[in-house]
Amino acid sequence: MRLLRRIVETSTQLIGRLKRNQRKSIPSQFSPVKVNLGCGLAVTTGWVNIDGSLNALVSTLPRPLHRLAYRLTGASRYYSEDEYCRLLRDHYFIHHDLAHSIPLADGVADFVYSSHFLEHLFRKDGEKLLAESFRVLKPGGTVRVVVPDLAYALSLYSAGEKEKMLLDNFFVEDDDSYYARHKYMYDFAMLEDALTRAGFHDIRRCEFRKGHTPDLADLDNRPDESLFVEATR
Ligand SMILES: C[S@@+](CC[C@H](N)C(=O)[O-])C[C@H]1O[C@@H](n2cnc3c(N)ncnc32)[C@H](O)[C@@H]1O
Repeated sequence: MRLLRRIVETSTQLIGRLKRNQRKSIPSQFSPVKVNLGCGLAVTTGWVNIDGSLNALVSTLPRPLHRLAYRLTGASRYYSEDEYCRLLRDHYFIHHDLAHSIPLADGVADFVYSSHFLEHLFRKDGEKLLAESFRVLKPGGTVRVVVPDLAYALSLYSAGEKEKMLLDNFFVEDDDSYYARHKYMYDFAMLEDALTRAGFHDIRRCEFRKGHTPDLADLDNRPDESLFVEATR
């Protein structure tokens, strides 16, 4: 089973990379256009959800394949099989490797949201993702980036919780997934700097479930360890 999971995971990544130049048009029912990058299964109604996982890849395939995917992903740790299948059936997913691009046209989105995703990209890919977020947003649109706060991680170290700091933040031992690994970390000043370089202005630190972005009661999670930042295009 472990080998099969590895093969499926690697194939899922390869398919994501092959589609790196694709641009998808957004179905007309999505208005305003709200895009959730690196969504995992933390999704809510009315959003365009983009992720490189098997969940996103199989979401548009026939239903029996959802049940098969349930067995091949770690989803059973968090969801029953029926909940998982409902999530795939009721939400709109695009499968894409976001380390390369966002598969949308220029200036189509009103909101771009990402939670606990940016740190899964190497620094230069993270910079590219913020530049891509700027590109796909309309002028005046809002980006909200939520990451595990580097300052919080270091406070764990100072408090003597060294293993928790390392395992939760730097060497995430979630599973064998390449996508599950953290590849960079940010505190507020670093994220502010990266957002400025991507072209954003009015960069502000926000509180849990507070800001201009809609549906934060459904989207924001992990209140204690996270840094919540919004900026304007
Ligand atoms: C820790 S989960 C966060 C899920 C959700 N946003 C949340 O707040 O719980 C990180 C997500 O990023 C996705 N991911 C990591 N690297 C990716 C990449 N290069 N392209 C697309 N998705 C990626 C993973 O598949 C996973 O769903």
